[in-house]
Amino acid sequence: MTTEETKKESTSGLFQEEFTATKMTNAEIVNRRRVINGFDDGLMQVSPLKHPWAYDIFNTMIKNTWVPQEVPMQLDVNMWNDPEALTEQERTVYERSLAFVSNLDGLQTNNLACNIIRHITSPEIVLAITRQTYEEALHVQSYATLVEALALDPESVYGLYRTDQDLYEKNQTVLAAVSKIADPQFKTGTFETDQMFLESCIGNIILEGIYFYSAFLIFYVLRRNNKMPGSAEMIQFINRDEDMHLQLFIKISNTIKEEQPELWTPEFQAQIRQNVVDAVSMEYQWGAACIGSGILGLTPADLKEYLQFVGDMRLLALGLEKEWNSKNPFPWIDEFTQGSMIEVNFFEGTVREYQTGTLEWE
Ligand SMILES: [Fe+2]
Ligand SMILES: [Fe+2]
Repeated sequence: MTTEETKKESTSGLFQEEFTATKMTNAEIVNRRRVINGFDDGLMQVSPLKHPWAYDIFNTMIKNTWVPQEVPMQLDVNMWNDPEALTEQERTVYERSLAFVSNLDGLQTNNLACNIIRHITSPEIVLAITRQTYEEALHVQSYATLVEALALDPESVYGLYRTDQDLYEKNQTVLAAVSKIADPQFKTGTFETDQMFLESCIGNIILEGIYFYSAFLIFYVLRRNNKMPGSAEMIQFINRDEDMHLQLFIKISNTIKEEQPELWTPEFQAQIRQNVVDAVSMEYQWGAACIGSGILGLTPADLKEYLQFVGDMRLLALGLEKEWNSKNPFPWIDEFTQGSMIEVNFFEGTVREYQTGTLEWE
């Protein structure tokens, strides 16, 4: 299939073909399906599948269903209202972390719905991104639940970027990375625009897999010191969702690379590496500004090593070599991020209860 034909197919849009009384075989359907620039009549035919991993991820996301109202917040409310329970620095770090993740999830909800999904021509991937969009909205609701439970001033969370220059600059950089394809006139189908789209997908990996990680770390460090346990539990559920989003966009990016290998030039690989390096550097600057000389045993040096370790993981996932070879200085974080605790708590307790109509948490 020539690029011109591909372009024509992808822009033919929803159910616009003329009636021809000819059937498409399953093999034709699968052969013409691609992540972007494939044949798509918009009718979401998810059998047969070309990209079964997207359907698997969608099913895992369904199994991971949770709602923020079920997370117990009373201990956090008591601590927040007790002047002795948290230091000023811990409160500031908590609020800044909450501000950043709430901004990030708000931005990501719109990014997926407005920029990404309209260019995807594989129905099973559309299915997974639609579920992801719902989950980002659920995360927006989670932060609202925290703001309301702790009676925080919403402006001091959602609007913190208006008075906090570090946060303003960080939000700007994240927005710039995802808004390259935000122009309503943007279309895939040329070498340049397909590279831009792929770069945006990798921007999603950076967003899901680097930016969120330092904020999550702060909540887990607090939790390890018996502070704000409900917030940490909420973050664990969000973290589990973000891990699936990360896996989804790694698969999307690597499959675009397989389907259109001409896009993955050495220059482009160098650009992607630079984007990851810049993100790790910016995330470190932000984190270091948040924690100052350190908080509850978390030092700027450890934070830097952790972010480099995470950055290396993202490079490896994209088939690129490591940049730093840093070790994970927080091996304990696995107990928060690998989902095992949540699996036990959630599936033994809440989900089963939820499915039978009660919402009690055990
Ligand atoms: Fe999210
Ligand atoms: Fe996400």
